[in-house]
Amino acid sequence: AVVGKGNYRHFMEKELHEHPIAIGDTLQQYIDAGTRVVGRPPLPFDPATLPRLTLSACGSAFLVAQVARYWMEALARLPTDCDVASELRYRDPPLTPGGAAMLISQSGETADNLAALAMLRAGGQSTVSLVNVPESSMARQSDAALLTVAGPEISVASTKAFTAQLSVMACLAINFARARGTIDEAEEARLTAALLEVPEHAARLMERGGEIESVAAEVAGARDVLYLARGSLFPIAMEGALKLKELSYIHAEGYAAGEMKHGPIALIDPSVPVIALCPSGPLFEKTASNLQEAAARGGRIIAFTDAAGAPALRRFAERVVELPTVDPFVAPILHAIPVQMLAYHVAVLKGTDVDQPRNLAKAVTVE
Ligand code: G6P
Repeated sequence: AVVGKGNYRHFMEKELHEHPIAIGDTLQQYIDAGTRVVGRPPLPFDPATLPRLTLSACGSAFLVAQVARYWMEALARLPTDCDVASELRYRDPPLTPGGAAMLISQSGETADNLAALAMLRAGGQSTVSLVNVPESSMARQSDAALLTVAGPEISVASTKAFTAQLSVMACLAINFARARGTIDEAEEARLTAALLEVPEHAARLMERGGEIESVAAEVAGARDVLYLARGSLFPIAMEGALKLKELSYIHAEGYAAGEMKHGPIALIDPSVPVIALCPSGPLFEKTASNLQEAAARGGRIIAFTDAAGAPALRRFAERVVELPTVDPFVAPILHAIPVQMLAYHVAVLKGTDVDQPRNLAKAVTVE
């Protein structure tokens, strides 16, 4: 069937609005509606005894892999390695006997990730692909295929497939943690409930396009933009920067907030917006103090946070965008949405080709 834009200006705008449904439909595949427990995914290995997980991906999917690493390590106590496929395929890492690898890809056709899959298989790893296209090469060539239920994604820059991939990896982290005995039933119920609330929160965010547009107006004139965060939000800061440079051609970098002192702080002046993802949680104070240092050097701080984080950040930030209060576990899924919306609105203001940015392709099928 031919997919149309409906009443939207761009496929990207339509697909951003499909975040809630993509996340909801995907969670429904992995979480039992009655028991609200993550069902046993069809995997070629036993997560209880798995010695190591290797994650391989490209582009935005690589940032999903990085969030997943935080979840797998902290929640399931599973040693997890992750790399871009173009490096992993030539890195010749010592693969752990009995280990498993997951290839994350919207299209399931990205050449470097297919090559990484072949290398991992040859190295004796069990292989699982996480794809949005069930009949893709990656799904066919791996031992098992897991699906995101995001529907066709036309815009070159990935949006709803990204949050759907995060949703699956969150479910796997919960399932693995239960299998490995690192969380109990009550903790599983709490985390699952937090996940199941994400589609509703995402739907509310869709109504805040006007607010994000006004933030976009403050960013559109910049030559450089810095995105900062810590922990599982750090890959989302990199996603924000990636989307901004892809869509609006503004130079942007996503940095671990604690690493700012080792380089990016030299760039900070009033012409460089500093976009921070800083929800309340265990790392809030650390990130907030990095931001305060940036503000002291003239940086214009635009902070995405929640009700508990907002008052402290308002003391020095130029702009505070208050997102719904959620469990820190699901914060990266929720924060991905406004940073993608922001990149979209900046691109629209700049008049760039949003759905087909110059030099980029939807699926990179050559090395
Ligand atoms: C291209 C797209 C990105 C995507 C990446 C990986 O660069 O523009 O949006 O994240 O490829 O694609 P995949 O299909 O493997 O997820």
